[in-house]
Amino acid sequence: MQTPVLIINEKNYLEVSGDRALKLAKAAEAVAGELGVAVAVAPPLPSLGLVAGAISIPVLAQHTDAANPGSSTGAIVPELVKSLGAIGSLVNHSEKRVPFDVLKQTVIRLKEVGLVSVVCAKSPEEVSRIAAVRPDFIAIEPPELIGSGIAVSKAKPEVVSDSVEAVRQVDSNVRVICGAGIVTGEDVDAALKLGSVGVLVASGIVKASDWRAKITELAELLKR
Ligand code: G3P
Repeated sequence: MQTPVLIINEKNYLEVSGDRALKLAKAAEAVAGELGVAVAVAPPLPSLGLVAGAISIPVLAQHTDAANPGSSTGAIVPELVKSLGAIGSLVNHSEKRVPFDVLKQTVIRLKEVGLVSVVCAKSPEEVSRIAAVRPDFIAIEPPELIGSGIAVSKAKPEVVSDSVEAVRQVDSNVRVICGAGIVTGEDVDAALKLGSVGVLVASGIVKASDWRAKITELAELLKR
């Protein structure tokens, strides 16, 4: 996944139920093409195949289990996620936390299969611990700011810069992005200035009245 990147987590909002998940993803694809920047989407899991099969920008699963193919009813299996055309997965999102050993196992499984891992963390301390597992990306998201409209990059800039530093001390190949409360271009700008190589955004886009306009506003800042 190229950086700087805007990752749109569609979550499970009713605004993206059914084929609306694809509609939002198509708006993201159009903006990415128009501006020549990296935009990725994480649609609701039931719509993963629909979206990944129809667009050319990177698609991520919102969650994947460390499960194996075969008799693993109900699990989200890395091989099957890949077979749908997704390029990676979020792991340990605040709304889908997993124990540390499961997180570690999931990153290993994603790597085995050739999928990108974007592991979420809620504090710089957790970032430090997760960096040792060497995922491709760590997304720092203070839970209290998620869905608040108050951007982590402006309200708690030290959380982002401390996370960037924490990763640098462990393995600078691991890339840091940030999310929580990001709703404006200014928020994205602040995030990038703190050393984040991208942003993870949900409600600011999903709840916007004009998806394409909002994605454009945020993605503009990724132009270099
Ligand atoms: O995964 C992104 C997320 O948790 C941030 O949510 O609504 O604050 O952009 P939101």
